[in-house]
Amino acid sequence: MMTPSMNSYWNSRYADGRIWGDDATPSARMADDWFRKYQISEVLVPGCGYGRNSMWLAKQGFQVTAFDVSDVAIQLATEDASRRGINVNYLVGDLFDPVVLNGMQFDGIYLSNVLHLFLAGDRQRLMERMDAMVKPGGMLALTCISVYDQNNYGIGREVEADTFEKHEGKPLHFYTEEELLRIFEGKYEVLTHTLHTQTESDPSGESENLQLWFVVGKKR
Ligand SMILES: C[S@@+](CC[C@H](N)C(=O)[O-])C[C@H]1O[C@@H](n2cnc3c(N)ncnc32)[C@H](O)[C@@H]1O
Repeated sequence: MMTPSMNSYWNSRYADGRIWGDDATPSARMADDWFRKYQISEVLVPGCGYGRNSMWLAKQGFQVTAFDVSDVAIQLATEDASRRGINVNYLVGDLFDPVVLNGMQFDGIYLSNVLHLFLAGDRQRLMERMDAMVKPGGMLALTCISVYDQNNYGIGREVEADTFEKHEGKPLHFYTEEELLRIFEGKYEVLTHTLHTQTESDPSGESENLQLWFVVGKKR
């Protein structure tokens, strides 16, 4: 069940190449610390884009599987990993397609800046999908944009509570602390949740500071 509009939107973004550069995000480094502390070895990176974080996590010694709906992104990732001699199991796949990695579970999941791209119903389905893919006792580490992001919060049409379309048809959901903790409630012990700044540069030379949540839950 591929999402054609998502696929073509992200393919057109990645036609410009490695749009946010090659460095791993600050939260990949934060996730690395937590994964090590809890002796995680297999890590899944859903919505991995062109692989800046999945490759970095593989270099840290994790056994990494990563997928994205954009075949252009996965081609960039695969070529770069092979050029650099880094071993990551990359595949093209839709987060909402139950056939993708069907029945597989991982010690850890690192989900960077994906959850906030969807409306409420799909965010819930996405969390259910993540829950199904983490082993009991395993860890879900994710980032999502917060209501404290002054560059983006409130820009565009509010299509649902705290959800704005700066670009038509491209919702961004901004999380309060309360909502963030609620989505982990019951199923996970929250080990940490913290705000941090991620500076994202794009090919035009512009850069912006995103105010993101980073949260790590240990599945019960
Ligand atoms: C904001 S980018 C983040 C990319 C990457 N996680 C990072 O931090 O560099 C969101 C990513 O989610 C992917 N994505 C969006 N919808 C998806 C879906 N339904 N299934 C799989 N990946 C999806 C996009 O192709 C894009 O690579």
